[in-house]
Formats: sequence, C-alpha cells, structure tokens
Amino acid sequence: MRKKLVVGNWKMNLLRNEGISLVNDILKNISSDITVNIVLAPSFLHLYKVSKMTSDLTYVSTAAQDCSLNSNGSFTGEVSAKMIFSCGAEYVILGHSERRSNFQETSRELRTKTSEAISNNLNVIFCCGESIKQRKDNTYFDWIKSQISEGLFHLSSSDFANIVIAYEPIWAIGTGANANSKQAQEVHEFIRNLIEEEYDKNIADNTSILYGGSCNAANAIELFSEKDVDGGLIGGASLDCNEFISIINSF
Ligand code: PGA
Repeated sequence: MRKKLVVGNWKMNLLRNEGISLVNDILKNISSDITVNIVLAPSFLHLYKVSKMTSDLTYVSTAAQDCSLNSNGSFTGEVSAKMIFSCGAEYVILGHSERRSNFQETSRELRTKTSEAISNNLNVIFCCGESIKQRKDNTYFDWIKSQISEGLFHLSSSDFANIVIAYEPIWAIGTGANANSKQAQEVHEFIRNLIEEEYDKNIADNTSILYGGSCNAANAIELFSEKDVDGGLIGGASLDCNEFISIINSF
C-alpha cells in the first residue's frame, strides 16, 4: 500500500519563532488517528529544531528543500545529504521548479543528488512539471517523461522504493490557478505507467505521487479523490495552520 502524504514546503519563509509557533499549532490541531503522513520542509536552519519537535510522532516527519551534489568537503555554503539525515530529516525535496529555473539545476545534477540522498538514507520527493507553454503546445507528456527518466531511471528497483514524485505544473505554483483534478489525474496516471514500464507494476503501485501547485483547503478534497493522487506538496497554504490542517483532513 502506498503512503498518503501531505508535505508542507515552507520555501524561504518563517523566522525561527514563527516556524516554532506554526509547528506547535499544527501539532495541537492534528488528530492522532489520521491516516496520512505529514512532512514539514522548513529551511535548513530550522530543520533540526522542527525534527526534534516532531520526533515522537510517527505520522510527522521532516524534509530538507535541497541537498548538495557532494558528500563533504570544500563546498562553502552547501549542505550534504548526510548532514540532513543527521538532523533527523527523513526526506529531501529535489528538482523543485524554482531550483531548476532560479539556480539552473539540471537533470544530470539531479541524478547525482538523488543517488546521494538515497545512499544517505533519505527519501526523495522528486518534483516535475511543465510550463504553461508546454501545456498549451501539448508537449507536456514528453517533458515530464524526460524529467523523470533523466532524473530517476538510473536507480535500481530497491532504491526506487525511496522515491516520492510530486507533479507540480509550473503554471499552477503560487498562482492560485491549480490544475483541476482531471488534469492532475491524467498526468499522475501517465507517471505511474512510466514507472511500470521502467520497473514493474508492483513498484509503480507502491510509488506515492503528489500534486503541487496552488493546492489549498478549497480544492484538496477534489484533487485527493483521484485514484492516482496520493497527497500534495503544499507551498503557500502550508504556512497557515488552518489551511494546512484542512488539507490534511481532506483524505
Ligand atoms: P504553492 O507551491 O502551493 O504555493 O503553489 C507549491 C510548491 O511550490 O511546492
């Protein structure tokens, strides 16, 4: 059975005290019988603290928003996968479109980062998604296929068990214009089929595929009701406790 996940990607938001108070509010408001796993992705600076605050709860874990290509050494400003794991995180988000576009992150680098993360015991939340032009030109399937095959298909079957995929159409991120549930389902099913072709049906059936891009309390129930949508990667709405809790309760 694949996991249902709701991931809060805080991006470069929340000072230390703001992050602490958001985590306290979330922990106060989630019921202990939830069937979904919650992952909080604060900045590197807050990762250790948030991991500590949530360490007693099996259904809450933490993620970094990126990791270095390199294992250790003279790479000023970088943070390695091993350091992330040592701070208590279980996941790392890789290949977010903001990193691909603002920091020119390539598929080749993402292959290395993915392997580096998995060999240091982290699960990877691997992001993919098309631009508005690719959606309009109808080239989005080819694009997503290339992002996934170039970034992930070097992995062995056993390593692929550590992968979660997040489909995040760029045109939906932070715009308020989410993909509708049919659009999301169409791409999620396509991704699951790609995994089955490359690996096998069992691996495809066990891979969680999340939707991201203006997912909020108003649209989560409909998006999560699709058979191949296993949860969400939430940006803006994860910074507001009530919104985030409503999304968690949308399953
Ligand atoms: P958004 O961001 O929910 O604010 O659209 C999602 C993301 O970028 O992960």
